[in-house]
Amino acid sequence: MSLSSAVKSKRERGCFITLEGIEGAGKSTHIAPLSTLLASMGLRVVTTREPGGSPIAERIRALLLDPGNTGMDETAELLLMFAARAEHLSKTIRPALESGAWVLCDRFTDATYAYQGGGRGLDPRRIAALETLVQGDLRPDLTLLFDLAPALGLARARGRGAADRFESETLHFFEAVRAVYLERARASPERYYLIDAAAPLSDVGEQVEQALRALIETRRGETVDVSGTGEEA
Ligand code: TMP
Repeated sequence: MSLSSAVKSKRERGCFITLEGIEGAGKSTHIAPLSTLLASMGLRVVTTREPGGSPIAERIRALLLDPGNTGMDETAELLLMFAARAEHLSKTIRPALESGAWVLCDRFTDATYAYQGGGRGLDPRRIAALETLVQGDLRPDLTLLFDLAPALGLARARGRGAADRFESETLHFFEAVRAVYLERARASPERYYLIDAAAPLSDVGEQVEQALRALIETRRGETVDVSGTGEEA
């Protein structure tokens, strides 16, 4: 049987994969090749991003990133992230997963813990309460964390043109963001795959592919276990 039918046979819902990391870590560069790799395995793939990923959520994104909105209240920022996420989940992510597609999302709620929790210093318990309200029990199946030193990431990001409202933050802010990402990855090693984003592009691509293959193997194991017969459909 084909790999795609092994993955889909006994579990209809698609896999939810998120890409995380500070600015300049390169996650956006790797999302297209990742999508191509999954499609080459016969899987249907939806690529999306946060904040954004649906028409209303993209309008909220524009508000959030506008460098003219300096001094936005931190709780307002947090609520806008989750307002965008609620739209994105109902219009894009949930329908895609329910139809059996795999969803590749450039940032998700880990970014809220890292940026609004770590960077802005908001209480993670408030974030957790909103996470439950907006997502119920939906969590990513795999999170690729592109890790690198903020000084390097910021130098890369700032070389790309005008800075948005987050890219204008200090090195100290991004150190705090990175620390929360790493803490979360250590706390849930079964969900995170840590990628050395300072490595050459081709090495990073290989790390991404390895993470994907590991996830597919796990899913394949689960589909066999669920049947209880040891047979693949
Ligand atoms: P990017 O999509 O170009 O990386 O920009 C999105 C920015 O929004 C990035 O600086 C991280 C920030 N962000 C948060 O602060 N909290 C969030 O929950 C998300 C999804 C993004």
